[in-house]
Amino acid sequence: MNKFDHIIRTGNFIGGEWFEKGTDTVKVLDKYHQSVIAEVPLASESDIKNTLNSALEGFEEIKHWSAGKRSEGLSKIASLLENKKEAFAHLITAEAGKPIDYAYVEVERALNTLRIAAAEALTHTGETVPINYGIGEGKTAYTKRFPIGPVLCISPFNFPLNLAMHKLAPALASGCPVIVKPPPQAPLSCLALAALCQEAGFPKGSINVLLCNVAMAEKLVRDERPEMLSFTGSSKVGWHLKNICGRKKVTLELGGNAAAIVDETADLNRAVDLLTNGAYSYAGQVCISTQRIYVKEEIYEQFLELLISKVEKIKSGNPYHSEVINGPIIDSHHLNRINDWVKEAKELGASILTGGKILDGKHHIYAPTLITNTSHSMQVVCDEVFGPVAIIEKIKDFDEGIACTNNSPFGLQAAVFTNRLDRMKQAHQALEVGGIIINNVPGFRIDNMPYGGIKHSGLGREGIKYAMDEMTEPRLIIY
Ligand code: SIN
Repeated sequence: MNKFDHIIRTGNFIGGEWFEKGTDTVKVLDKYHQSVIAEVPLASESDIKNTLNSALEGFEEIKHWSAGKRSEGLSKIASLLENKKEAFAHLITAEAGKPIDYAYVEVERALNTLRIAAAEALTHTGETVPINYGIGEGKTAYTKRFPIGPVLCISPFNFPLNLAMHKLAPALASGCPVIVKPPPQAPLSCLALAALCQEAGFPKGSINVLLCNVAMAEKLVRDERPEMLSFTGSSKVGWHLKNICGRKKVTLELGGNAAAIVDETADLNRAVDLLTNGAYSYAGQVCISTQRIYVKEEIYEQFLELLISKVEKIKSGNPYHSEVINGPIIDSHHLNRINDWVKEAKELGASILTGGKILDGKHHIYAPTLITNTSHSMQVVCDEVFGPVAIIEKIKDFDEGIACTNNSPFGLQAAVFTNRLDRMKQAHQALEVGGIIINNVPGFRIDNMPYGGIKHSGLGREGIKYAMDEMTEPRLIIY
């Protein structure tokens, strides 16, 4: 008996009902042991049709809920989740391979996301518009925000609970129904969340969670009934979906190859500790994982020695063991891809400072890897590795660090370790990313901050209030 067995749901949740049967199914594996945890049916064409209809019916009800009622509903989900923290953390570790301490952090963050949404539901409203001049003299104008309608949410495997929550919570806080398509590798946390939403008393059809294949997912994306697509996943898929989604609003949270610049004024021990974690925790399977490290030449050798020694001490292996930070890669395809990219770098002249191999093929563990003497064309530099691999290079000055960071198709978040205010300001001015983190890792995220990228990394922002701005329309009245 697993600690999470009692929260597992092996069906799709459509229009307030569970559908447990399907012709095709997906087997969900424990990502370390490779054993089957559950088998979930894939939605059929008629399930897709019912979901779209039920989301419209759900909208007719939830759009009339007061802000107070929406807020209470979200707080109720939070208290139900609070009581099941342990089960959710263990389920995340099982289905996504996330080391257990990080899985607990994800559950805490999901609770925070819900509580922020519960608070935001009460205050996210319109604004008065100053028009008392010219032809507006003597008049009053203000906007009120109205929910746009069903939001189609496609969420990724790496934060199977909290990244679905970043779509579902702001949508419900706004009065929009959701259709969530969870990731096939790790759909169970999201299905378990649907059960909590059902228990919290949201109207039938306001929450729909269904697993489906690519063709059915594209049907949902092309359909005119969802008013918005909120997608988190790979750049390739995200931009493709934007092309086929018609007149919907779109938010895309896509990939990255985040960089950190370390200058000669930084606290080196702190930078080394944080960057080791930032690059290798959860085997680097985070969009804002540190992938590129640029260090000023006068401190480079000292920094490198500290970093290598730290990376070599990383515990890899079974994610249920609390000391492990580098657990399994999601599947063998990605394990082999990461290995191929590292091999390519080596063949093109890069030096592997540590790691550079599959550590345990049976459990999909890749060795924490640090590479130098790289060039921009190598995939470990210019593409998103999504694995425990980082590159480190020497820079002669801060300007070069900025130029290297910007020399990327992506622009999600970046970090600067410095104690110079002028460099912090220069970074803010010049770095082409959605967020700049000073003296911490690019992977730093608090759930109410605006989160999203530019260039190939995406479109729009998440972070409750920012998502709610997209999920509502301001309607003006003048009298
Ligand atoms: C992501 O991988 O895009 C999400 C990172 C986070 O929420 O911490």
